[in-house]
Amino acid sequence: MEKKPAIIIRDLCKKYGHFAVLKHLNLDVYEGETVVILGRSGVGKSVLLKQMIGIETPDQGYVEVNGVRITDIPHSIRHRSVKNMGMLFQGAALFDSMNVLENTAFYLRQHESNLSEKEIHERVTHALTIVGLEGTQRKMPSDLSGGMRKRAALARLIVYRPRIILYDEPTTGLDPITAMQINKLIQATQQELQATSIVVTHDIRSAMEVGDRLAFHHDGKIHQIAPKEEFLHIDDPLIKAFFENAAVSYEELSTIKKEYRKKDD
Ligand SMILES: Nc1ncnc2c1ncn2[C@@H]1O[C@H](COP(=O)(O)OP(=O)(O)O)[C@@H](O)[C@H]1O
Ligand SMILES: [Mg+2]
Repeated sequence: MEKKPAIIIRDLCKKYGHFAVLKHLNLDVYEGETVVILGRSGVGKSVLLKQMIGIETPDQGYVEVNGVRITDIPHSIRHRSVKNMGMLFQGAALFDSMNVLENTAFYLRQHESNLSEKEIHERVTHALTIVGLEGTQRKMPSDLSGGMRKRAALARLIVYRPRIILYDEPTTGLDPITAMQINKLIQATQQELQATSIVVTHDIRSAMEVGDRLAFHHDGKIHQIAPKEEFLHIDDPLIKAFFENAAVSYEELSTIKKEYRKKDD
């Protein structure tokens, strides 16, 4: 079967003042695949996602989603064109004043205003069941743990069945077990929606679990991209250095942190 790109990014440039973050970046993402974007902190991964979902406008180049150049559409009406896209933001970003039910229903009400309250409740209940949060409808975000907030944010996304999902650091800040649950949920979401996904992470374990292809973002470009098994064996000094830095286990990291604290005392 011939692979069809769902997302085409060409020559994408983005500067803040004189500081160029994206420098002629190119990327193709095929329908139904999950591409993981790896890269050092501050390299521009979140900036890339923001151009893709249309929150920001690039200085040059374009993003094409299912044949539509969303970067050419005026900002004020762009949200209509990115209806089929959803993004899981880094901090989960739930609305603090709304309970889980209202949070989960939020984008669904926006995107599909023709639904009855009964249908909304059914869709919300289904989404909350997928993420393992059934029965929490009346809880407020402040009553939830970090992992539960991530899951609620995921439910809020999958409830309107986007065809393309962007995840920004979905497991950052979570303990290893919760992180693993989120990885499983990303895979379950992929199955349920048959979506095309982009996952930004610096967690190699997550990347290997959820990704089909792995991309390495460096110096404003996608420096390398390959199927995940191949990616692990790419003979590239930048990628090797990245792996060596990232290969610190959770336990090792806490030990190092403790050592430094002692020195400062
Ligand atoms: N709105 C902005 N204004 C100025 N600089 C920004 C803005 N957004 C991001 N940057 C800068 O762009 C760089 C890349 O940021 P980001 O995409 O958040 O990195 P990461 O790869 O960690 O997600 C950083 O140096 C950041 O400070
Ligand atoms: Mg980021």
